[in-house]
Amino acid sequence: MQPRVTTATLIKMKQEGKKITALTAYDFPFAGYLDKAGIDIVLVGDSLGMVVQGNDNTLSVTMDESIYHTAMVSRACKYSMVIGDMPFMSYQGSLDRAVENGGRFLKEAGATAVKLEGGADVCPVITALAKAGIPVQAHIGLTPQSVHQMGGFKVQRDEERLLKDARDVEKAGAFSVVLEGIPSPISARITKALNIPTIGIGAGPCCDGQILVLHDMLGINDRFLPKFVKKYADIAQIANQGLASYIKEVRSGTFPSDEYEYK
Ligand code: KIV
Repeated sequence: MQPRVTTATLIKMKQEGKKITALTAYDFPFAGYLDKAGIDIVLVGDSLGMVVQGNDNTLSVTMDESIYHTAMVSRACKYSMVIGDMPFMSYQGSLDRAVENGGRFLKEAGATAVKLEGGADVCPVITALAKAGIPVQAHIGLTPQSVHQMGGFKVQRDEERLLKDARDVEKAGAFSVVLEGIPSPISARITKALNIPTIGIGAGPCCDGQILVLHDMLGINDRFLPKFVKKYADIAQIANQGLASYIKEVRSGTFPSDEYEYK
């Protein structure tokens, strides 16, 4: 078995020009598929609130819910690095609380690292977590926890601010940064400017790695998909076909047939 992915592995991959693969997962069976497939990073994203819990945004996700799902994912991952996503209001306000909450992902949920959203304003939090031995992945650009402040899920185009945010989070101690909803030429410039790997979502092909939300790329939910999502499978369709066959066979009495009976 290949050794587990670490922060050093990811930095080395950037240096060697080897693309990093990342996806989200929220439970044991799907995390197991990702791990066995050789996905480098499994993020237990707060997209949980939308694709699993059925909310319109990520804001209501709690620390306890994130810990619960991250623990399930960690139990399945032997190769992939597991990153827990710090929920809205779990790291704003007080540095002590941020460190306490970040620590829970490593202590209680078996994660290797945490992710949090924001640029220059969250640098003191990144530094406090890193000093406590908690590796941090930053997340800049379209940051879904600021949906109300941004006035919706909007592509971010302020090149100089984005470049400054990226440089600041690297300096503060982040080991990697997610670039979300950023035009390709800007994310290419950021990727070139940093020593830490950039992981893109809706940020074009020049990032050091790519991440997508699992439920979007496997077609688990048949909901609206943003332009940047490629659907690699249609699980909703397979599930709907299976369910329709089950209903038909139960109603017609063809299930259970002999082979499914105890004699
Ligand atoms: O919550 C999430 O799934 C994320 C990724 C989309 C980067 O933040």
